[in-house]
Amino acid sequence: MTNFLAWEQTLFRDREIFDFGYIPEEFLYRETQMKSIGYAIAPGIQGEQPQNIVCVGPPGTGKTTSFKKIIEQAEQISPSNLILAYVNCRYTQTHYSVLAEVYKKMTGIEPPTSGIALKKLYEKLAQTLVAKNKSMFVILDDADFLVLRKIFHDVVNNFLRLYEEYPLSIGLSTVHSSQCPSHDEGLNSVFMPTVIKFPSYSWDETFDILDRRVKIGLYPNVVKNDIIEKITGYAVSRGDIRFAIDLLKRSVINAEKRASTIIEFTDVETALTDASDERMKRYLKIFTDSETALLSLASEMGTSQAGDLFNAFHKRTRKGYTTFHKALNKLVNAKLVDTYIENRGKNGRTRVIAVTR
Ligand SMILES: Nc1ncnc2c1ncn2[C@@H]1O[C@H](COP(=O)(O)OP(=O)(O)O)[C@@H](O)[C@H]1O
Ligand SMILES: [Mg+2]
Repeated sequence: MTNFLAWEQTLFRDREIFDFGYIPEEFLYRETQMKSIGYAIAPGIQGEQPQNIVCVGPPGTGKTTSFKKIIEQAEQISPSNLILAYVNCRYTQTHYSVLAEVYKKMTGIEPPTSGIALKKLYEKLAQTLVAKNKSMFVILDDADFLVLRKIFHDVVNNFLRLYEEYPLSIGLSTVHSSQCPSHDEGLNSVFMPTVIKFPSYSWDETFDILDRRVKIGLYPNVVKNDIIEKITGYAVSRGDIRFAIDLLKRSVINAEKRASTIIEFTDVETALTDASDERMKRYLKIFTDSETALLSLASEMGTSQAGDLFNAFHKRTRKGYTTFHKALNKLVNAKLVDTYIENRGKNGRTRVIAVTR
C-alpha cells in the first residue's frame, strides 16, 4: 500500500520558517522604523520619559516583527530601568483584560480576574512601578481592535493619566493596520505621539524577502525564480508580505501533494484562492458590519459599477452613501478591491469596482 504519511518526501527544510509568528533573523528594509522606535524607547533605559508613538501601516508590513526585535534588544541591556509590556489587542476583549496583561508583564504578578475595580488596578500598577523605581513602555499592538470595541480612547487616556498622577515615566505606542484613530478628539492632551509609517514593501524588497525565506526554509531548487516573481506580483498588488509567505507555503504544499519536487505555476494558481480567503478573514476581524457587508457584496459581484454596488449595499444594510463611500475607501486601502474609471463611449465614464486578484 502507498505510504500516505511519507514525511521524508517533504520539500520543507524547516516548516516553521513559514509560520505567521516566525521572527526572521535577517530583518531588512525596516531600519528607519526600527531607529525611530528605538529612539522613542531609549530614554526609558535610563529611567527617563520615553516618547509616545503611533505606528501605522497595512497588515504584513513588519510592524509586529519590528517591536519583537526591539524588545529582544532591550531585554539584553543591563542594567536597565525600563519595563516593556507588549499586548496584542486582538486577544484582549475588554479594557480590564488589556490592563491585566500590562499589569502581569510589569509586576510579574497575575492580577485578580474579578472583584477589583479598574481604577484600583491602575493604582496598584502605578504604586508597584513607583516602588521599583522603573519606567514603563506599553505597546498596544493591533490597536484597531480597541478602536472597534470603542475602548481605545479610554485605554490610552487611563494609561496617560497615571503619568499625571504619579511620579512615573511612561511611554505608549499604539500600532494600527487600518487607520489611525483621530488624535484630536477626546484624547488626553499629553498624548502627542510621533507617527511612524510602515509602507508596503516594494517589488524588489518583496522579492528579496521571499527569496531569503526560500533559501532557508526549502530544499535547493524547489522554487525557481519565475515562481518567486509570480508570487511577488500577487503580493505587491495587495501590499502584504504575510500574504506572500502564506501563498508560497501553500504552493509548496500543493507541489508536495502532487508528489512533485518542484513548484509549478499551477501550484501557485491553485493556492491563490485559499491564500486570498485567509487574508480576507484576517481583515474581516477589524472591519465594521458595514465594511464586511460591502466586501461580501463586492466578492459576490466580482466586478461591478459603483452605482450598482451602492444600490445592493443600500438594499442589504439600509445605510446611505456616506457610509458606503467610507467603507469602500477602507476596502480600497486594504487592497481588497481595486477601483478604476472605465470609458463607455460618449460621456459614458463609469467607476468600476473589482475584487483584487
Ligand atoms: N523586512 C522583513 N524581512 C523578512 N520578513 C519580514 C519582513 N517584514 C515582515 N516579515 C514577515 O512577514 C510576516 C508579517 O510581518 P509582521 O511583522 O507580523 O507584520 P504586521 O505586524 O505589519 O502585520 C512575518 O512572518 C514576518 O516574519
Ligand atoms: Mg502585526
